[in-house]
Amino acid sequence: MRQITFWQVTRIPMDISLSVLDAIGSTPLVELSRLTRGVAGRLLVKLEYLNPGASKKDRMARQIIEDAEADGSLKPHQPVVEMTSGNAGTGLAIVCAVKGYPFIAVMSRGNSQERARMMRAFGAEVVLVDQIPGSIHGQVSGGDLALVNEETARIEKERGAFRADQFHHQGNFRAHYLHTAREILEQTGGKIDAFCDFVGSGGTFAGCAAAFKEFNPRIQCFVVEPSGCAVLAGEAASQPNHRIQGGGYSMSPLPLIKPEHIDGYLRVTDEEAIAAARSLAKLEGVFGGFSSGANVAAAQQILAGRTVVTIINDSGMKYLSGELWD
Ligand SMILES: Cc1ncc(COP(=O)(O)O)c(C=O)c1O
Repeated sequence: MRQITFWQVTRIPMDISLSVLDAIGSTPLVELSRLTRGVAGRLLVKLEYLNPGASKKDRMARQIIEDAEADGSLKPHQPVVEMTSGNAGTGLAIVCAVKGYPFIAVMSRGNSQERARMMRAFGAEVVLVDQIPGSIHGQVSGGDLALVNEETARIEKERGAFRADQFHHQGNFRAHYLHTAREILEQTGGKIDAFCDFVGSGGTFAGCAAAFKEFNPRIQCFVVEPSGCAVLAGEAASQPNHRIQGGGYSMSPLPLIKPEHIDGYLRVTDEEAIAAARSLAKLEGVFGGFSSGANVAAAQQILAGRTVVTIINDSGMKYLSGELWD
C-alpha cells in the first residue's frame, strides 16, 4: 500500500477550474497598517491586480460577455469590440480567448504600450488611435477618447461586432454589485464606514455603492477624481491631461452611477497619486498603478478614525515603461 507522507486523506477533493475565468474575483482584502501607522482608522484595500489580467476589469469583461450570451445579444463566434485604456481590453481579450470570440481592442496611443502588447498576447487585434493634436503621451483626455469612440463605432458597424460598451452595459454594474461588493461585505463582516473609488466608466463605484447602500445606507460612498478634472463634482475640466490612467475622462454624468449613491467627491493630484502608489509598494509590498495610488491617497483624506475600503485597480507592472517607477 502507498504511504501518504505529508497528510492523511481518505478522499482527495477535486479542485480544478475548468478555465482561467474561474480565477477571476475572490481577491484578498488587506489592511494597510504600515502606511497608516499613527493615524486613527483602518484602510482596507481589495487587491484586484491579482486577477488573471492584472486588473479589476476582468470582472466586468466576464459579466458583460456572459450576460450577452444569456440574453442572445452576443452570437457564437461573433466578433467583440471595445474601446479601452487597456485593462478592460485585457479582460475582454482573456474572456474572448477562452470562449472563442475574435476580439478587437480600440485604444488611444496615449496609453501605456505594455497594455497593447498584453492584449495581443491574448490574441486580440489592437487598433491604436492617434491622440488629438497637442495631447501628451501618457495623458489621455476626453478629446482623445472621443476619437477612440468614433473608431470603435466604425468597427462595430463594419465588422458586425458586439460592442461590450462598458460605459452603458449593466454587466459592468452587475460584476461589482454581485461580486466585488459582496466579497467586501463578507470579508469585513459588513463593518465598513466608507468606500471610495477613482471612476472611469463608474462600473465599480456604481455596483459597490448600490450594494453597500442596500446593506447599510450609512456606508458613505465617495467618487474619486483627478484635481483639475473633477467634472462629476460639477467643476470645469481645467486640466484634462492628468496622468491617472483609467479614468477622469471629463465625462458627466456617467450612465451607470446613481447620483443618490454619491455622498461626496474627493480630488487627487497626479503627484499625490504617484506618491501613494510608491509608498504602497515600499511600505506594504502592494504593487498598484496610478489610479490605485489615487484611491489610497483619497481614502487617507477621509480616514479620521473610520474603516475605509478602496480598490487596487491594476498592477504596477503595467507602468514599468513610464515614469511611475524610478
Ligand atoms: C487602472 C484603472 N483604474 C480605474 C478604472 C476605473 O474603473 P471603472 O471603469 O470601474 O470606473 C479603470 C477602468 O478601466 C482602470 O483601468
